[in-house]
Amino acid sequence: MAKILVTGGTGYIGSHTVVELQNSGHEVVIIDNLSNSNIEVLNGIEKISGIRPAFENIDCVDYVSMDKMFEKHQNIKAIIHFAASKAVGESVQKPLAYYRNNLVSLINLLQLMPIHHIENIVFSSSCTVYGQPDQLPVTENAPIKPALSPYGNTKQIGEEIIRDTIHANPNHYQSIILRYFNPIGAHPTAEIGELPNGIPNNLLPFVTQTAIGLRKQLQVFGNNYNTPDGSAVRDYIHVVDLAKAHVLAVERMLMNKTKNTVEIFNLGTGRGLSVLEIINTFEKVTGVKVPYRIVDRREGDIEKVWAEPGYANSELGWVAHETVEETLRSAWAWELKLAEKGKHE
Ligand code: WQD
Repeated sequence: MAKILVTGGTGYIGSHTVVELQNSGHEVVIIDNLSNSNIEVLNGIEKISGIRPAFENIDCVDYVSMDKMFEKHQNIKAIIHFAASKAVGESVQKPLAYYRNNLVSLINLLQLMPIHHIENIVFSSSCTVYGQPDQLPVTENAPIKPALSPYGNTKQIGEEIIRDTIHANPNHYQSIILRYFNPIGAHPTAEIGELPNGIPNNLLPFVTQTAIGLRKQLQVFGNNYNTPDGSAVRDYIHVVDLAKAHVLAVERMLMNKTKNTVEIFNLGTGRGLSVLEIINTFEKVTGVKVPYRIVDRREGDIEKVWAEPGYANSELGWVAHETVEETLRSAWAWELKLAEKGKHE
């Protein structure tokens, strides 16, 4: 049982992780500036776990407020750092906003950790650091490719900042860097889920919003890739499976089971699915049609990527359990819940 700080804890992956931490008996403090999430998420968390986490509306970029927060919430044992901007397209339009937000927040945390006697940090990274891998499935040792967007670059630079900081101060820090593949789905209770702002960029929210009639038609970006059906392939992973990996990562550091001061794990299923397979499976498990048309490839998209999760399986003791059918069902249940609550008006 430990006190864990979760930055971005009202966000999509953050909120699911808070629930899993609570389910494992940990005490959670959330900080979030609500820039891309809603305070009502706390109600959803409380409904599931029975516990309302401590919450502070703070921007991680604000060093002084962060320092005060650590003074107030003593005895934090580990940080899980989700808080970041994540829209790839927006990052191309507003690179400085992305570099400032995603990098200054991380630098602030790393500077404040030794001051407040916190050694452990889990960092949210992304399979985007691999670009189009030369070999599939992609392992953690695959080379890092030049980032295709400022967003992707903030994840690469974030990893480097952590590595350099720990290299210089190996006695003060340890970190687990988690490279997420494509998280989708929602909590099985449908009390929390993804809340996209405006028109979704990611596939699954666009699928569910089209299925419910909020969007007229889904665009499938490309059908001439070198893949079995021509549409692009990703490793889609249930967000609850992903959340559970964070609990294991934190506990691994707290129990001194790490092999290095910086460890990196891929979080994926090891299974690649195409856009068309996702649409077809969604239609099959929900019985709802998703109108779609094929359009040109989206700029900057990777053709195919899926994880080799073997290292996370054996070292972290973590496996993605959920089937894609169950995962898509959970995404649909959440969309229906949003409609029921009138969140679509
Ligand atoms: C998945 C597939 C699209 C929308 C990006 C970031 C990554 C991560 C998640 C953080 C692709 C296709 C999508 C649509 C489509 N970051 N698609 N029609 O691009 O794998 O990863 O988001 O949040 O770092 O790079 O995810 O969900 O956008 O796309 O055909 O309307 O679905 O072309 O093949 P992606 P995605």
